Amino acid sequence: MKDINIAILGFGVVGSGVYTLIKDNKKDYEHREELSLSVKRVLIRGFDCEPNIDKAPREVYTLSIDDIASDTDIAIVVECMGGTEPAKTFVLKCLLAGKTVVTSNKELVAKHWPELEHAAKTGGAGFYFEASVGGGIPLLRTITDSLQGNNIRSVMGIINGTTNYILSGMESDGRDYLEMLKEAQGLGFAEAKPEADVEGWDAVYKLSIMGSMAFHARVPLEKIYREGITKISALDFSNARMLGYTIKLLAIGKKRDGNHIEARVHPTMIPLTHPLAAVRSNFNAVYINGNAVGDVMLFGQGAGMLPTASAILGDVLYAAHREEHRYQTFQNEFEPREPAPIEDDWSCAFAVRVTTVDRVGVLAQISSCFAAENISLLSVLQQPTESAAASILFITHVAREKAMQAALKALELCDAVISVDSVIRVENGQ
Ligand code: HSE
Repeated sequence: MKDINIAILGFGVVGSGVYTLIKDNKKDYEHREELSLSVKRVLIRGFDCEPNIDKAPREVYTLSIDDIASDTDIAIVVECMGGTEPAKTFVLKCLLAGKTVVTSNKELVAKHWPELEHAAKTGGAGFYFEASVGGGIPLLRTITDSLQGNNIRSVMGIINGTTNYILSGMESDGRDYLEMLKEAQGLGFAEAKPEADVEGWDAVYKLSIMGSMAFHARVPLEKIYREGITKISALDFSNARMLGYTIKLLAIGKKRDGNHIEARVHPTMIPLTHPLAAVRSNFNAVYINGNAVGDVMLFGQGAGMLPTASAILGDVLYAAHREEHRYQTFQNEFEPREPAPIEDDWSCAFAVRVTTVDRVGVLAQISSCFAAENISLLSVLQQPTESAAASILFITHVAREKAMQAALKALELCDAVISVDSVIRVENGQ
């Protein structure tokens, strides 16, 4: 039996969940893994401000990271503080002291991965973060271990539970956006700052991590296109449904010819028949295409106390069995070090809704804005409005992003157009 002493940094929902899971499953881990896990230390901010303080005996708590970093009995540190500071300083200290770190902190990993990995190598420690993307879904190790025989061509996922919860409620019950956001906040999986979820930042952090692992090339945050869900309306949903689509906030990573990688997070119309269309409420799912395996979809809870603790314990047990740790290097000469910027080679179909004056020749005028950019129209639908204006929905064939941006500029200058109300990208398959 191998004894493993653990420290937990942060004792909120996730940290206390990890503590509980270790306590509840201790005997099972001993029996199955021949590992005896004990939580020796828990780092908290203060004794008066920790709602979960009664879950562990007083003597395990400390207010000082040095009590953990300098304790040679502690082998694994679980970071559940969130945010970048002081989490980064504390994690670096532990890694350099030779302690393996397991974290669920997507922002920390996405922003500081090279520095953290360098510290892990220097300290001879492991650095694991399965819980940072897709919560309890076994995703990152599936990509790096089970699917390693493949060249992964695309990853497409619903990796933010809050926005999926909001969009699902708007779609199925016609619920109001703000009402759904409040409900998500009450259920405990929304980020402290709503924009982290609804403006797509959380999904961008996760796509940066997942895409880097899938494509063996670092996908930096600043190369990921980002658009949130705040402009999506009930009319967008009814139009999508009429056409056989739904709308999801998708994180999309694709490897293009010449090894370019596109990475983007935005509201996306997908066919109701696509497996991701059936992923509702706060569930997450990632649809992966590998050159050998074809399509694989992983589905589950992307947040929450025990689902996140499940992924963390997976990493803890994995690391506890290893003398030598594995690192992501991104130094393969056959792969791009950095993906090409998105404007270079990103193509998809678009749904564009505009309000126009209702007079002879308007359609011809608007169509010419698309035609001038070589954008072909798949369908055009004029819908009645209560005013004299017309609401027209254009669905395009696959077009270049740059061409669409130019067409949108021309539309805004067109005297027949009162407003461009909505532009939603459409994905039909991978
Ligand atoms: N706010 C995140 C979500 C939590 O809604 O998915 C998990 O990272």
